[in-house]
Amino acid sequence: MAHLLITGGAGFIGSHTCLVLLQGGHSLVVLDNFANSSPESLRRVGELANLPTAGRIGVIEGDIRNPADLDRAFTATGHVDGVIHFAGLKAVGESVQQPLRYWDVNVNGSRLLIEAMQRHDCRTLVFSSTSTVYGEPQTFPISEAFTTNPLHPYAQTKLAVEWMLQALEASEPGWCISRLRYFNPVGAHPSGRIGEDPLGIPNNLFPFITQVASRQRPLLRIFGADWPTPDGTGVRDYLHVMDLAEAHALAIAWLLQHQRSLPVLNLGTGRGLSVLEVLQAFEACTGLAIPREFVARRDGDVAKLEGCAERAAEILGWRANRSLEQMCSDGWAWQSANPRGYGC
Ligand SMILES: NC(=O)c1ccc[n+]([C@@H]2O[C@H](COP(=O)([O-])OP(=O)(O)OC[C@H]3O[C@@H](n4cnc5c(N)ncnc54)[C@H](O)[C@@H]3O)[C@@H](O)[C@H]2O)c1
Repeated sequence: MAHLLITGGAGFIGSHTCLVLLQGGHSLVVLDNFANSSPESLRRVGELANLPTAGRIGVIEGDIRNPADLDRAFTATGHVDGVIHFAGLKAVGESVQQPLRYWDVNVNGSRLLIEAMQRHDCRTLVFSSTSTVYGEPQTFPISEAFTTNPLHPYAQTKLAVEWMLQALEASEPGWCISRLRYFNPVGAHPSGRIGEDPLGIPNNLFPFITQVASRQRPLLRIFGADWPTPDGTGVRDYLHVMDLAEAHALAIAWLLQHQRSLPVLNLGTGRGLSVLEVLQAFEACTGLAIPREFVARRDGDVAKLEGCAERAAEILGWRANRSLEQMCSDGWAWQSANPRGYGC
C-alpha cells in the first residue's frame, strides 16, 4: 500500500485511475482546481470503491501552479510515496489559440510540481504524455523509437515536460519516472457512475457521439472527409479508459518496486479505427442512429494515429484488452444515466 498524490485526479482519466488505485488498497490525495471537472466525480469514486474497506482518498482544491497548494497536498497525509500527474490542459485547437496558457499550465505547472516533490523528498512520478508528440508519421504502428514531431502547442508542451524530466533524471540521482504516451482513451467505468464530462462542445469524438445520442446536441460534426484513409475520415487508436487506468496502477507499482525509471511507454491497442467505424459500432451497440455532418478539417489534426504498445506489454505485462463494443456500451451507460455529466 502506497500514499500517492494524484494531480488532476477528478478528471476523466484521473477519476478512473483513482478508483483502480483505491481498489488496490492505496491511499490517495487528489489535488485538482476543478477547471475541467467536478468534485462529484471523486465522491462517486469513493462510493464505487466501497470505502473504507479499500484505500482512502483526500481531496484538496488547488492549483498545481500554486506552491502553497502543492505543499498542502504533500503534507495532507504526512508523506507521499509517489505522484501521478494528470493535471493539465488537453484541447489541441484551444492550444493553437491560447499557446501561453498551455505553456503555463502544462509546463510551468509541471515544473512547480517537480520543485514541490524535491521539497517534500518524493522522487517517483508518472507523467501523462500523449501520442500527439509523434506528429504525422508515415508508417504504422507508431513505436516509441519513432522521431517526435509535435505539430501544435499542446503536443509541444507535453514533449517539453518529457524533456524536462529527462534532464532532471540526468542531473539528479534517485528519480524514478514514467512517461506514458496515451493514444485515445474513451468509454467509462461499466457502472455508468463515472465518465468523461467535457465542458462545452466536446473536442473528442466519443463524448460528441454520446451527447448526440442523448439529444444534448443535434448532430455529430465530422472534421474532414478527405483524409488519406480508407473511408476518408480520421483514424485513431481508441482504448478503454479502464485499461488506461490499470496501466497507471502498474506503472506506479513498477517504479516503487524497482526504484528506477521506466523507458517511455505507448499506451494503445495497436488497432486504428476511423470515425465511421466507431460510429457504426456505436449504432450497432446501442440501436441508436447518430445524425452527422461533414465539416472542414480542424487545426492540428492528422490523418492517422495507431500505436504499438508492445513495450508496455513486455515491461508492465499490460495490454488494452477491452473491446470497441465495451467502449461503446460503457460510454453510453455513463452518458444515458448522466445526460448532463456530473450535473446529472
Ligand atoms: N483524454 C485524452 O484523450 C488524453 C490523451 C493523451 C494525454 N492526455 C493527458 O492526460 C491527462 C488527463 O487527461 P483527461 O482526459 O483526464 O483530462 P481532464 O481535463 O478530464 O482532467 C484534467 C484534470 O486536471 C485538472 N486541472 C487542470 N488544470 C489544473 C491546474 N492548473 N491545477 C490543478 N488541476 C488542474 C482539471 O480540473 C481536470 O480535473 C492530461 O494531462 C492530458 O493532457 C489525455
